[in-house]
Amino acid sequence: MKLPLDIDSVKGFLDPEEGKALHDHCLASANLGPALEIGSYCGKSTVYLGTACKTKALTLFAVDHHRGSEEHQLGEEYHDPELFDSDAGLMDSFKEFRGVMQRAGLEDFVVPIVAPSHVASRDWQTPLGLVFIDGGHSMEAALTDYQCWAKHIATGGILAIHDIFPDPEKGGASALYHLEKSH
Ligand SMILES: C[S@@+](CC[C@H](N)C(=O)[O-])C[C@H]1O[C@@H](n2cnc3c(N)ncnc32)[C@H](O)[C@@H]1O
Repeated sequence: MKLPLDIDSVKGFLDPEEGKALHDHCLASANLGPALEIGSYCGKSTVYLGTACKTKALTLFAVDHHRGSEEHQLGEEYHDPELFDSDAGLMDSFKEFRGVMQRAGLEDFVVPIVAPSHVASRDWQTPLGLVFIDGGHSMEAALTDYQCWAKHIATGGILAIHDIFPDPEKGGASALYHLEKSH
């Protein structure tokens, strides 16, 4: 796997091993349909998935309201002041995300959907080869994303869900689970 930029220059929370797993699963499921992620933030996971999509001339839909999850809000542990729009008084990672997609040369393969996940899913019709869920990490948020998107995965496609370990001292971010859908 060759990434189009220095992935360490992209703000985000994904471990390189997880990124490679996403990339490889995206390649493997490409014949089943486009890919979709929930929770792009500044585009780290998007670069891995988007690179696989570019290889297969496939589209990656990148869903994020870009207002941050619970832990990104002002005063919270993972708040990044560089991503705070002080005029709006809200987080806004979209400008940073767009810059990363441009630097990575992925603009023709990544379609950003700037909306809450459940809104983006409302009229969704296209079967998906891979869905990656990495939006809000509360049980309620993750369950909503699962309920909104798992049903759109094509038979034999991949559902990948990002989780976080509760203790940042032990690595902080992450385990990647992937299930093959069989129905
Ligand atoms: C942990 S970050 C994603 C990290 C990213 N995948 C990476 O590789 O760095 C979670 C993102 O999910 C977004 N998010 C949280 N809840 C959401 C929702 N209901 N709909 C859309 N985006 C959501 C936040 O705005 C935030 O950018």
